[in-house]
Amino acid sequence: MASLREFADADALFAGAAARFAALAREAVDARGRFTVALAGGSTPRALYRLLAGMPLPWGAMHFFWGDERHVAPDHADSNFRMACEALLARSRVPAANVHRIRGELAATAAAELYAAELERFFGARLPRFDLVLLGMGGDGHTASIFPGTRAVGETRSVVVANWVEKLAAERITLTAPALNHAAHVMFLVSGADKSAVLREVIEGPFDPDRLPAQLIRPESGACEWFVDRAAAGELRENALGDRSCAS
Ligand code: 6PG
Repeated sequence: MASLREFADADALFAGAAARFAALAREAVDARGRFTVALAGGSTPRALYRLLAGMPLPWGAMHFFWGDERHVAPDHADSNFRMACEALLARSRVPAANVHRIRGELAATAAAELYAAELERFFGARLPRFDLVLLGMGGDGHTASIFPGTRAVGETRSVVVANWVEKLAAERITLTAPALNHAAHVMFLVSGADKSAVLREVIEGPFDPDRLPAQLIRPESGACEWFVDRAAAGELRENALGDRSCAS
């Protein structure tokens, strides 16, 4: 089940996303004693993470994972782990044992294997069922590090893969569509007019996941919620996804 919530601007988008994140976290901890989330990288979520850091959340019961990581050390400027630490984890009381980073400093295949093993150990199953997966979307329609025309697009078995991205001339480590689609909730965060054309293609265009990998994300027994601002939603039809609630 997919839904879309449109917000007037980026500030409203991040406030709405923070409220939704907090509600899901509290719900999971109340119901099951823990909350598991796979964080998104890139630049969009930084403002959300900063908002979350100041909120009264059940931090001790929250476990943080990543949807993908660059093939760099954890202190590298491009590290998704570093971004989340600076914006959120270093500013909240999350126990170190609750932070499960992808070890981007290792050989990419080794990092993928170690992360898959940690997920299997933590979730007690081959496929992790995250309470929440946060995802961004690039201007080329990629999500996590599943880029157009790359091996990860067609991956139907592995949970985590090392993915060579020719356009970046770089390896990435990423959860695959089977892993992402096993989540209870997926929340896409899309902000800015530069994403409006690709957002329309992904949501309203023909299914073409090799060109638009974000279209792979269709949780088999979970919710897919698009949180977008008006600038990003500028080219969508009024009834995009059928349930396009417009928040203030
Ligand atoms: C990454 C992210 C990636 C990101 C998109 C959007 O490692 O870069 O996981 O999928 O979400 O590239 O990035 P922006 O938020 O910077 O536009």
